[in-house]
Amino acid sequence: MTADSLVATLRQAVGDSHVLTDDDLRAGYETDWLNKYHGTARCVVRPGTVDEVVAVVKACAAADASIVPQGGNTGLVGGSVPRGGEVVLRTRRLDRLDPVDLRALQVTVGAGVTIEALQQHARAAGLDFAVDWGARASATVGGAVSTNAGGSRVVRFGTMRAQVMGLQAVLADGSVVTHLSGLPKETAGPQLHHLFIGSEGTLGIVTAARLRLVPWYRQTAAALVACESVADAVSLLPALRSLPSLDAVELLMPEALHVACEYLGISPPLHDDFAGAFVMVDCAAHTDPTADLAGVVGDRRGVMALGPQRDQLYRIRDHVTIAIGAKGVPVKLDVAVPVDRLDELLQRVRAVVAPIDGAELIVFGHLAEGNVHINVLGALDHAAAFTDAVLQTAIDLGGTISAEHGIGVAKVHWMERLKGPASMHAMAAVKQALDPQELLNPGVLHCLR
Ligand code: FAD
Ligand code: LAC
Ligand code: ZN
Repeated sequence: MTADSLVATLRQAVGDSHVLTDDDLRAGYETDWLNKYHGTARCVVRPGTVDEVVAVVKACAAADASIVPQGGNTGLVGGSVPRGGEVVLRTRRLDRLDPVDLRALQVTVGAGVTIEALQQHARAAGLDFAVDWGARASATVGGAVSTNAGGSRVVRFGTMRAQVMGLQAVLADGSVVTHLSGLPKETAGPQLHHLFIGSEGTLGIVTAARLRLVPWYRQTAAALVACESVADAVSLLPALRSLPSLDAVELLMPEALHVACEYLGISPPLHDDFAGAFVMVDCAAHTDPTADLAGVVGDRRGVMALGPQRDQLYRIRDHVTIAIGAKGVPVKLDVAVPVDRLDELLQRVRAVVAPIDGAELIVFGHLAEGNVHINVLGALDHAAAFTDAVLQTAIDLGGTISAEHGIGVAKVHWMERLKGPASMHAMAAVKQALDPQELLNPGVLHCLR
């Protein structure tokens, strides 16, 4: 099949207006959110049903044309944009929103539904969707499944993996695996759908998900607490974790707080020149959690925020990544270590950054999981050496090179160091079995070709 006949087949499958070939129409799908990863797509195709996804995959397989699945394109590791000549399969039109199942506390939704739309849908039924982060308005369910997204509420509800009760996915040969019954108990062999969680579009195209919902807690209280150091921040964890209403524990190093406030044009809610770190705590419950939170942080330097004020505090948190992006293209790493090694990790990171002339280090993250986002502006020329040093340090400290953003194309070369040969071999065998043509997202996660 020639390039043109592939486009003609795709047009037949999804309709002319959903196959984009013009340069200006493709452009928005060819660059990532960070404006760091770019490539030219053979075309962008936007199927609206699972049958259309099947037709697209079969046509691409017949033409030996690789596919890059793309949801909201908010990924931060370069996995959602083409590297050179692939078909971009955009999932946003897979926007099915089934009624909320109030007996099971679950819902089935299309892969292209945004996290914000899912949250609104759940709340209209008095429930909530647990995974939440700043890109909620654009990021999709399929993207979140495929990256095993985390965000700020993992301390209470776990990552995306903990929400997925089942999936529907189209495999590289066009067959459809459907597991959307949502049964909480089933021991009929391994649950195939787990394979797709965190596989970054390399094993199948997720078309729908059956998701767990959680209570919608409308009473909230938040606090921003000044700590002497990262170690001091970590020492708050046992008391915080004893709060049944604990919803989020975020770490903001002073420079992260300042960069977000500067971007928003507001003054920091807490002025403390001696603080070595700030902890943003969120509590949510059916009854007012203020007293519980005050009981834990009351004698510390900090601000408490209720109701709409709490949203102001979290607006700052949500804007850190956006504020960094507005200043330039950072070297961006997403690592996690056991919390008691976090202080050591950050000391070592500072030592690596110090000799780089003009480099600006901005660190923040999800304290309870020992997950920090390490951003360095003005250091793109040193990206390779810096990345290598930080990822190796995370591995040496018993941590991981990706806690929530995924491997994408950015960290493929560090996978073997993290996983070891036996795991790499097993993962390659799974990829080979499900996608022998290496059609799906080549160059991402695996290093096969
Ligand atoms: P995309 O970026 O389009 O794709 C991501 C990966 O998933 C790609 O490899 C793609 O090929 C694959 N993919 C997408 N859809 C499908 C599908 N249907 N089937 C198969 N493969 C698919 N992430 C966090 O975990 N926690 C955070 O706190 C967080 N904060 C962020 C804040 C900002 C401001 C931004 C810009 C990003 C943030 N992210 C965060 C990263 C990003 O939002 C997540 O990785 C998200 O899950 C990506 O979803 P998406 O729909 O945009 O996927
Ligand atoms: C956050 C993203 C960058 O936590 O993961 O804001
Ligand atoms: Zn994060």
